[in-house]
Amino acid sequence: MNQIRLDSATSTLILCFADKEIPWSAYWGRPLPPDAPLEQIHQIKPVVRFPAGLDSPYGLNLFPEQGTGFSGRPALMGHRSGTHWANRFQLKEVNHPKQQVILHLKDPVAKLQLTLDLHLDWHSGILRRRTHLTNCSKISYQLQYCAAAAFAIPTFCSELLTFHGGWTGEFMTERRPWVSGISAFENRSGRTSHECFPALIAGSRGFDENGGTVYGAHLGWSGNVCGLAEVLPDGSRQIQFAELLAPGEVVLAQDETYTTPWVYAGVSDTGLNGLSHGFHRYLRQEIIPPKARRFHRPVQFNSWEAIYFDHDLDRLKQLASQAAALGMERFVLDDGWFHHRVDATKALGDWWPDQRKYPQGLTPLVEHLNRLGLTFGLWVEPEMVSPTSTLYQQHPDWILSIDGLPDLTGREQLVLDLSRKEVIEYLFQKLSRLLSQYPITYLKWDMNRPLTMAAHGQRPAYHRQTTAVYQLIDRLRQAYPQVEIESCASGGGRIDFEMARRIERFWASDSNDPYRRQMIQRGATLFFPPELTGSHIGPAESHTSGRVTDIHLRAQTAFFYHLGCELDLTRITAQEYQLLSAYIALHKRYRPLLHTGRYVRLVLDSDQRNGYGVVADNSETALFSIFQLNHPDQINDRTIRFSHLDPDGIYRVKLLEPLHQSIRNLLPHPDSWLNGFLLPAGVLMDEGVSIWMPYPGTGVLIELKRVPQTASE
Ligand code: GLA
Repeated sequence: MNQIRLDSATSTLILCFADKEIPWSAYWGRPLPPDAPLEQIHQIKPVVRFPAGLDSPYGLNLFPEQGTGFSGRPALMGHRSGTHWANRFQLKEVNHPKQQVILHLKDPVAKLQLTLDLHLDWHSGILRRRTHLTNCSKISYQLQYCAAAAFAIPTFCSELLTFHGGWTGEFMTERRPWVSGISAFENRSGRTSHECFPALIAGSRGFDENGGTVYGAHLGWSGNVCGLAEVLPDGSRQIQFAELLAPGEVVLAQDETYTTPWVYAGVSDTGLNGLSHGFHRYLRQEIIPPKARRFHRPVQFNSWEAIYFDHDLDRLKQLASQAAALGMERFVLDDGWFHHRVDATKALGDWWPDQRKYPQGLTPLVEHLNRLGLTFGLWVEPEMVSPTSTLYQQHPDWILSIDGLPDLTGREQLVLDLSRKEVIEYLFQKLSRLLSQYPITYLKWDMNRPLTMAAHGQRPAYHRQTTAVYQLIDRLRQAYPQVEIESCASGGGRIDFEMARRIERFWASDSNDPYRRQMIQRGATLFFPPELTGSHIGPAESHTSGRVTDIHLRAQTAFFYHLGCELDLTRITAQEYQLLSAYIALHKRYRPLLHTGRYVRLVLDSDQRNGYGVVADNSETALFSIFQLNHPDQINDRTIRFSHLDPDGIYRVKLLEPLHQSIRNLLPHPDSWLNGFLLPAGVLMDEGVSIWMPYPGTGVLIELKRVPQTASE
């Protein structure tokens, strides 16, 4: 029996394999000592054997195949006009460079070649996997399904955490028992989607934020995706992820290769927070563009909910002046600035300033921003075209469509076919012109409808469209390295690790309603660190829910993330102005901590509350936020139990101002709470502290600072 061992700072992975066979994962969990005796680990191989089944048992491996008798979901499905549909690959070669395993396999009967790539990142413990499939026959191979990775999950993992949601409700999670058979998700929207973030988490019974063993995986792809969690009849479990291919979408000619997207997976024996820390660290160090790794995320003003399509230079200048006075650093001109864009039904594709709103182009606005010291960002939606635009009038054939079927609109727009070179050239030229004419350092790149009949030359083109978007962004980034990009798709419809390679920020949701936002952000932070997540202080009345909330709640909800303001600053009260200014200044003071530390979701022992924080890597400083979202059940309602502090440390605990009056009035020891008092970490984490927040919709910011032990004596 052969063995390969991969180690990271937080985990060890052991692969075992007999000659010619696909390796299986004998262990993936907490780090094992270098000299751990592992010679006999293959003896614990779980063998799938059903009574009244086959004589030759089989085990779940890295790529389960039907040709071995495996009757669960195989990792590969395809055929040559009905033949070569069952596979049995033989291992031909194993390369094992540092932290990596590359397995080369061949199926001599079906004439296919397979390469499995594995890479274990040392620092974060994130395991990255993908698959390449090559057709070695003269006869073309019709690929139906090719798993990017299959993971055998230990049988003690009896619970799943899955994702669902919708517009203004992204990253909702559902906890469920992992039942027999296949639990699957499919996303056919042609973008990452609001409904179905491509990830699964499996864990031991009762796992929570800080406890239990959990395995989590995410497919980094901004197109169609499917994933499944399967319990076989004998209790064995597997998870798989793949790009969802439309019929006939991938037909491999001789020597052609299909490469799957990457799957990113992690394991933690300290619950969900441990898992998230791996993903956050990996994104920060390995995925996002180097520029996005800095912690200074400019506080930005966004014009959308302030003025919508109603652009007027004087008003915009006023808004910019207010934004600068309040301490903001970037001004993003959202939708409505370009040729004849008077409402959402028009002009997409005509990417030049509207002559009526901007007779001298964007220069007068830009000059004003320069004087104020604000950098300039611009909204675009390059993949789309409005049927009434000049572009569509000139090139009605440039859209994705199927002959004989109606061209369905979404938000009254159609989608450009980015597989066409002339479309890419048009977009590159139009965007280049804007980027070279104006000092634009930020693009908010929107995508406001799903792809329906994505066809190029009548063939499905979801994959091509997705890679073409990546290529267009990459080309622009290379040509204009000063430009940062925010990925938006009616809010959080395109948030994933592959997109994260080319952007500095995700717009998490079109909901600025703090109640809704907190739940969205709680789900998003399972995979994404706070600085990648744009979060805005919106108007008092949310335009997506009608809910009215006060400025404290709105500001505190956006506080930990990449902060912005998106409301009419010329109409706020003096008190709101003063509070906004205070929260922005406070955010700037804390953002180095918030955007580099470990994000921690607190265990919720009441549905009425939400709580989370960021603890510095060295555990010296932490900032937590606790919210009372509904009426407290009791006066002494639930204690706040912090986590991830230095267990031997002593901390000064302090409530930060601004503070909602209702909370200040009821503080039992206001002087202590406002000036800080000392408590050992053990008390803070095990016993906890209690703050009465009688009003629903209020919250607090709590700073914890470790004191040198002598100071406490
Ligand atoms: C989408 C975005 C919003 C805004 C509008 C503009 O809905 O998610 O933030 O940019 O488009 O039309």
